Amino acid sequence: MKYKILSFFYDLVEFFFSNPETNPRHGLARLIPDEDLQILDVCFGTGNSTLMVAKNNSKNRITGIDLSADMLQVANRKIRKQGLTNVTTFRMDALNMDIEDESFDIATSSFGLHEMEYPVMENILKEINRILKKDGRFYLVDYQLQDTAIKRFFFRVYLLLTSPSHVKDFLKYDWEAVMKECGFRIDKIEPYRISQIICASRL
Ligand SMILES: C[S@@+](CC[C@H](N)C(=O)[O-])C[C@H]1O[C@@H](n2cnc3c(N)ncnc32)[C@H](O)[C@@H]1O
Repeated sequence: MKYKILSFFYDLVEFFFSNPETNPRHGLARLIPDEDLQILDVCFGTGNSTLMVAKNNSKNRITGIDLSADMLQVANRKIRKQGLTNVTTFRMDALNMDIEDESFDIATSSFGLHEMEYPVMENILKEINRILKKDGRFYLVDYQLQDTAIKRFFFRVYLLLTSPSHVKDFLKYDWEAVMKECGFRIDKIEPYRISQIICASRL
């Protein structure tokens, strides 16, 4: 229900990301090599991150899954409009993916996990681990704590208006420990506007 309404104006969030240098969606496209790779995007939404990847990396073959038919409808419209032939979407629950073990080279997820309480997020991370090949990589794009008091203030107001209250816990997670618990090793973390990309490998 929430995303039925949000799907109409969700893409306004892109206002934050007008500079390609600090836009995590551009960052993700730069991090993923343009090779024949099977990529799964979890919590695809309207596809803002992964469509950037698909546009820049024509050799990548991308599958996007999301629970909301309304968000996927907006995404599918954009896929058709942009003439992208390397993206397919499915309505699917990330907690119980109808996907074989070890079938994807790369998994991505952007701005979805901060909405979930810890046990749900942990189960999704474990599902992602399951569907990745042995040497598979995972890129998590999501919010990070802001570094100055003024930025923190405005970010808190923004989160209060847009996110569930447990987002404040998400901002304090020890990502090394969380990723290890879910079968990943962090390779590096890159900072972006209001967000970061955690680049991890399957252990
Ligand atoms: C804030 S949106 C993020 C959309 C997009 N990835 C982005 O970067 O803008 C979160 C998305 O997660 C999806 N979602 C939430 N729980 C899910 C679940 N259990 N399985 C699949 N998708 C889920 C919602 O439907 C929504 O489209």
